[in-house]
Amino acid sequence: MGRLSNKVAIITGAAVGMGAEHARLFIEEGAKVIITDVNEKDGKTLAEELGDNAFFVSHDVSDEDSWEAVVAASVEKFGPVNVLVNNAGLSGPYAFTADLDPATYNKVVAVDQTGVFLGMRAVLPGMVAAGGGSIVNISSAAAMAHLSGTPNVAYTGAKAAVRGMTKATAIEYGPHNVRVNSVHPGAILTPMAKNLNDAETLDAIAQSLPIRRFADPREVSQVVLFLASDEASYMTGSELVVDGGRLAE
Ligand SMILES: NC(=O)c1ccc[n+]([C@@H]2O[C@H](COP(=O)([O-])OP(=O)(O)OC[C@H]3O[C@@H](n4cnc5c(N)ncnc54)[C@H](O)[C@@H]3O)[C@@H](O)[C@H]2O)c1
Repeated sequence: MGRLSNKVAIITGAAVGMGAEHARLFIEEGAKVIITDVNEKDGKTLAEELGDNAFFVSHDVSDEDSWEAVVAASVEKFGPVNVLVNNAGLSGPYAFTADLDPATYNKVVAVDQTGVFLGMRAVLPGMVAAGGGSIVNISSAAAMAHLSGTPNVAYTGAKAAVRGMTKATAIEYGPHNVRVNSVHPGAILTPMAKNLNDAETLDAIAQSLPIRRFADPREVSQVVLFLASDEASYMTGSELVVDGGRLAE
């Protein structure tokens, strides 16, 4: 028996990076996984790699209508949704607040903040009807403390909002046995980290961390797996930091 046997999970933004690794680990642990992403090419390739227990749906998390289609496709393919991992995220370019154009700000908030709200909103009725579920919202260590080398007010604000929305929804839905928790990664070696920083900067960030390296995505997937599984049955409204010790300083 896997740790997610009999669970149906939607993972957003799972074509590459951490989301793809969450999907791999969830399948290894017995889940049926709906991979969603705006990146159709890599999403479809991953679903083929993972076999019959994976299914790709093209999806923009900031689009309200497409959420209904994702949940309907999940139920039709695998049955009622037990787990939602709100993983999809955009960083946007590093820019000081006065230099960030409002269109970029709004785009980051639409994906990183509103997308999480829309996802929770879409799966909650089904989870309540089924007698429970687990929602894992991927925030960031940036929700708790800002790194001075990465100016990004939109991302920091949206990730802090996810931390708050997680607690609000956890309290509202605790009586229905729907658990809602947030995960706060620090420096994780994914396409996002590589696109934002050159090799020299990546090395400097690694050397600044207590653990002196970036995390492999699977080191976050293990934490997401735990929160998704029944092993975390008494955890809701909580936040798990996976940052190599950065916030402890
Ligand atoms: N990499 C890090 O160091 C780090 C640190 C803290 C938090 N995070 C967060 O972890 C999550 C995963 O990050 P990652 O590093 O794997 O990122 P990534 O850029 O490597 O992958 C993100 C995925 O999300 C998808 N995506 C983007 N916009 C989307 C949208 N509107 N709808 C659906 N899918 C969309 C992308 O196509 C991509 O496949 C994000 O929420 C990110 O903010 C990352």
